[in-house]
Amino acid sequence: MREMVKVSAPGKLMLFGEHAVIYHRPCIVTAVDQRMIVEIKPAREEKLLLDAPGVGIKGYSKKIKDLACGEVPKGVRFIETGIRNFFQKYKVKQGIEVKTKAGFSSEVGFGSSAAVTVGVAAGLAQLFKIRLSRKQLFDLTYKTVLDVQGVGSGFDLAASIWGGTLYFVTGGKKVIPLKINQLPLIVGYTGIKADTPTMVKKVANLRKNNKKLVDSIFDQMSFLTNKAKVTLSKGNFKKTGGLMNLNQGLLDALGVNTKELADLIFATRKAGAWGAKLSGAGGGDCMIALVPGKMRRKAEKAIERAGGKALKIKPNAEGVRAE
Ligand code: PMV
Repeated sequence: MREMVKVSAPGKLMLFGEHAVIYHRPCIVTAVDQRMIVEIKPAREEKLLLDAPGVGIKGYSKKIKDLACGEVPKGVRFIETGIRNFFQKYKVKQGIEVKTKAGFSSEVGFGSSAAVTVGVAAGLAQLFKIRLSRKQLFDLTYKTVLDVQGVGSGFDLAASIWGGTLYFVTGGKKVIPLKINQLPLIVGYTGIKADTPTMVKKVANLRKNNKKLVDSIFDQMSFLTNKAKVTLSKGNFKKTGGLMNLNQGLLDALGVNTKELADLIFATRKAGAWGAKLSGAGGGDCMIALVPGKMRRKAEKAIERAGGKALKIKPNAEGVRAE
């Protein structure tokens, strides 16, 4: 066992295919340069000692044998369940002290839960000197997400693990890194926190009563995601932007668009974006736009004028790594 380990895992932005990816269709996701840092060291008592200031947790402690049992505060669920799953799988029983530090707010929808889940599992693997492939790390963390949340495609975990920009199919059935040199993306935050499970349920309800129709929307999303895989790899941002606009129309049809998202989307299009759409579950969080270099400042200003906040991020970031 090592004395201390420090790892970092990136957040993500969904580029294409959200919601459809829950229903066994593909999506495209990019990792962003906002990272979650996780430090782990052995503790003397057989307990988890946790500081996670980003989610208001300080001086939290729990016996290792009770992990993920009883009342678990919301901000701790992914961490506790992740440690329990790791310890069960690799037959470890050791007190540990965990500190997490988020380089981004858990409010913006960059996938802080996924990044912390990946960071903790990768950190534990280092601490106990267990070599895990990316796929093994994915399967372990995907189990944690399903244990905690019940739903989820795992796209955010894959972005955190592999980094870069990925073509991804539900549950990690396909994880294909796309070769992308640059991605001129801007991000607008609505200021409204979206709840992903609520939005996923909303779409599930719509599908219950309109199965054929909604499945055909998912098929169209799948079709344009496959097209975007090609246009992105060729660096054809004009065509990719057009596909973003089409994807946005289909997301609107699913009922996950909001006035606040739409305002920012129309503002960036008017300011010269090749295309714009919401990113993630919808209902709030962020929108993204592909913008020619010389229009970038104008489009960012348009986001601010339309009531949003232009977030400074770099896409296509490196996956989980030792610090
Ligand atoms: O809200 P976010 O950024 O976590 O994105 C959710 C994307 C969904 O497809 C709606 C859910 C999922 O797990 O794929």
